[in-house]
Amino acid sequence: MVDLKSHWEKVYQTKRPTEVSWFQPHLAQSLEIISRMDFDRNVEIIDIGGGASALVDDLLNHGYRHMTVLDMSQEALNISKRRLGGQSKNVTWIEGDITAVDLPQHHYDLWHDRAVFHFLTRADERYRYMDILKKTLKPGGHVIIATFGPQGPTHCSGLDVARYSPEGLLAELGQNFKLAESLEEDHKTPGGTAQKFIYCHFIRGSSNAK
Ligand SMILES: C[S@@+](CC[C@H](N)C(=O)[O-])C[C@H]1O[C@@H](n2cnc3c(N)ncnc32)[C@H](O)[C@@H]1O
Repeated sequence: MVDLKSHWEKVYQTKRPTEVSWFQPHLAQSLEIISRMDFDRNVEIIDIGGGASALVDDLLNHGYRHMTVLDMSQEALNISKRRLGGQSKNVTWIEGDITAVDLPQHHYDLWHDRAVFHFLTRADERYRYMDILKKTLKPGGHVIIATFGPQGPTHCSGLDVARYSPEGLLAELGQNFKLAESLEEDHKTPGGTAQKFIYCHFIRGSSNAK
């Protein structure tokens, strides 16, 4: 079995952040969805598997003050910290596995995940991911999950991935969530290949029910 932590550490140790297939200078679709939420700037946001992505830089620049970036790879977090320089102290960094990490209860207003959930190809991993999401997201909280769409690739970074429709992702989240919006994207990898992504915005009901 692949040691996933070693796998991801090696990716970030051996490739420049701009060379990985999922690289985007800005997560434009996520930023567009977040801008429509019209959030107070004090909301708590967590980027799951944020890697070396610049979403945190962009949200800090938009005035958000309570950002957490979680990733399995310490190397990925270090790349983001170095890029942010002095601003990195304004971010909470968590090195951890999103299927096993301990996060504060009902704490986050927005859970953001681009290209992480689709790596969870086993039902028990997905169950643990959703259990952690539901424990740590506030009632009424927002979720953005971006995955490969139904016509997307079947592998990424040498690993198997699952592909989703918005309805398929909603079914994974369960009855207490509703789909607010979904967007499609033809992501161009740095190597020039097109990959079909979907970005979905879900809203949790006002109770803590799963
Ligand atoms: C395809 S990259 C996406 C990175 C970033 N979200 C972006 O859009 O640029 C997947 C990221 O998820 C992280 N990752 C994979 N499995 C994880 C897990 N179980 N828990 C936490 N992070 C994970 C990897 O280290 C990697 O940074």
